[in-house]
Amino acid sequence: MNHTKTLMRTLAGETLDIPPVWMMRQAGRYLPEYRATRAKAGDFLSLCYNPELAAEVTLQPIRRYGFDAAILFADILLVPQALGADLWFVAGEGPRLSPVTTADDIARLRPADEVHETLQPIYETVRILSAELPVETTLIGFAGAPWTVATYMVAGRGTPDQGPAHALRAENPAAFDALIALITDATIDYLARQIDAGAEVVKLFDSWAGSLTGPDFNRYSLEPIRNITQAIKTRYPHVPVIAFPREAGKNYVGFAQATGADCVALDNSVDAEWAAEKVQIDGCVQGNLAPRHMVTGGQELIDETRRIVKAFSGGPHIFNLGHGITPDADPDNVQRMLDAVRQG
Ligand code: CP3
Repeated sequence: MNHTKTLMRTLAGETLDIPPVWMMRQAGRYLPEYRATRAKAGDFLSLCYNPELAAEVTLQPIRRYGFDAAILFADILLVPQALGADLWFVAGEGPRLSPVTTADDIARLRPADEVHETLQPIYETVRILSAELPVETTLIGFAGAPWTVATYMVAGRGTPDQGPAHALRAENPAAFDALIALITDATIDYLARQIDAGAEVVKLFDSWAGSLTGPDFNRYSLEPIRNITQAIKTRYPHVPVIAFPREAGKNYVGFAQATGADCVALDNSVDAEWAAEKVQIDGCVQGNLAPRHMVTGGQELIDETRRIVKAFSGGPHIFNLGHGITPDADPDNVQRMLDAVRQG
């Protein structure tokens, strides 16, 4: 199945001469057409919950660049919102949520089997995309991994060191485990419904995995990702899972095998040559150009792109950035990167 799609072939373990390519945050503020559609929606969250406009911004980078994959336009924080947390975005600062800090707060959240009620518009976006995407383009659904989602829920915002979540897990492990279990169940349901609506691949974003060390990495990043992956694989054996334990460093080694993920996404702090030897040996990897090259461009962008393509040329590789493209990126640099990947 799906053998015309380069991304699906790569996730099935094929090594292609030219790797498939897409970019995290490819629908985003660096594109004037994205900013125009967001203005039409009113704000970011209204855009997420407007299926026609969310599908439109998902399609914009596909039309402009012809990426091999489209990622559903939504946000990892829609799950906490569906669990009952208030969510809003402060311009220039980022997300704010009503914090969940005690066992009572956790007990007051909605049960996992109710989250689908407020997430219906997201499934509608997936259905529209599934009908409208070009046949060669793979549709990726996603969710945040439980640890990362919990860090925002506990702190009520993004933090430099995820301190509040670390404090809660140390002081009240039972309450913290209950929160992780609730997010895990809600995420399984959320991803399953994205797949039912037409998502062909799902990706788990564990953006703050790198703040976990020793046994805590296994307990809060690896194990919840494994539990979600196993649950998805049981119901949908043919749907590939991409896991992104960002800044996991040496914990990237063996991560795919331990979780059952089909592909591990690498951030740009890891050396491509090292990762080819230590991580790609187990299967497909994705990554890992530093997003700053999309701002600075020049010969360095071309050289770095070629170096990464070459480093991973011995096995299955999906070319991507090591983190999301930033609003100050130059759209012409994206085209230069694509040309370097596809034309060498
Ligand atoms: O990759 C994609 O284009 C798909 C859509 C997507 C968004 N967020 C859209 C978005 C995905 C996959 C995410 C994931 C996400 N959201 C993560 C994990 C990946 C990562 O970046 O580490 C996290 C931690 C979030 C939470 C979040 N959402 C933050 C911290 C912010 C504010 C920071 C910022 O860039 O402004 C957002 C907002 C957000 N999510 C935007 C987009 C396009 C910008 C909103 C805008 O248009 O103003």
